[in-house]
Amino acid sequence: MRDFVSAFVFGFLLLASTAPVLADSVMVFGATGQLGAPHVRMLLDRGETVVAFVRTTSSRERLRNLNIQYAVGDLTDAASVLAAMEEFKPRVVIDASARRGGMMTREQPFYAEAMRNIVDAAKVTGVSQIIIHSSVGVRGSAKKFLEEVGYNTESQNIRDKGEAETYLENSGVGYTIIRNGLLEFEPAEPTGNGYLVEDINAFGRITRTDLASVSLECMDNADCQGKIYHAQDDSLIGPRTGSEEGK
Ligand SMILES: NC(=O)c1ccc[n+]([C@@H]2O[C@H](COP(=O)([O-])OP(=O)(O)OC[C@H]3O[C@@H](n4cnc5c(N)ncnc54)[C@H](OP(=O)(O)O)[C@@H]3O)[C@@H](O)[C@H]2O)c1
Repeated sequence: MRDFVSAFVFGFLLLASTAPVLADSVMVFGATGQLGAPHVRMLLDRGETVVAFVRTTSSRERLRNLNIQYAVGDLTDAASVLAAMEEFKPRVVIDASARRGGMMTREQPFYAEAMRNIVDAAKVTGVSQIIIHSSVGVRGSAKKFLEEVGYNTESQNIRDKGEAETYLENSGVGYTIIRNGLLEFEPAEPTGNGYLVEDINAFGRITRTDLASVSLECMDNADCQGKIYHAQDDSLIGPRTGSEEGK
């Protein structure tokens, strides 16, 4: 009996020692998307353990051959978000998700619900920072400029993102909100000239790769905690080429 117990304890210790250490991971929501995927690659370059939260239906093509962990669930399913966070206990969470479906789904809520599920789970498991991608125009930002160019700053989409921001802001969890104005159509060559400003009237363009890069400068950065930034790149001039439905 004693031998059996010793063998069991030894086996358990061996298993525990070979299991991946994930308590210090970064979880990326929207990891399979155009903005999420460059975050994942850059996090790996920084030596981070990355957990991609994906749906059962998600194409993992953009993450092919990357040495990452997967958590499967749906941002609109609170239990699956909590289960993923309880399993991996991420230190930092990055939300680069976007409601899929383009213009046809613009009036359908998504962002506030997704954010509630992330924040509520983060409170349970203890996340030090949630970095989210939001939009210029949310909560009155750059309102004058956007109205001048005929953009509807009162749309359901913008209000939905505003609710998401407010929920995060009031949650007590460390956070950084990064708003983008106009994203370059993909594929877009990064310029290396992207930057963040605290001016909530700023409106500019940026590539997703540069956006990921400047966003990660805020990760674990005390200066960025509790802040809202607008992302831009002054070197992007002239008309955007290609075609992509704005969200
Ligand atoms: N200002 C602009 O010009 C502009 C243009 C486009 C986007 N944006 C903003 O930029 C950000 C990123 O957009 P993007 O175009 O890079 O995104 P994207 O390529 O459309 O990717 C969206 C990601 O969100 C995930 N997702 C959607 N619904 C989900 C759900 N219910 N549960 C879990 N994951 C879900 C998708 O997973 P699946 O692979 O499973 O679908 C995908 O990984 C968003 O905030 C968007 O609003 C701004």
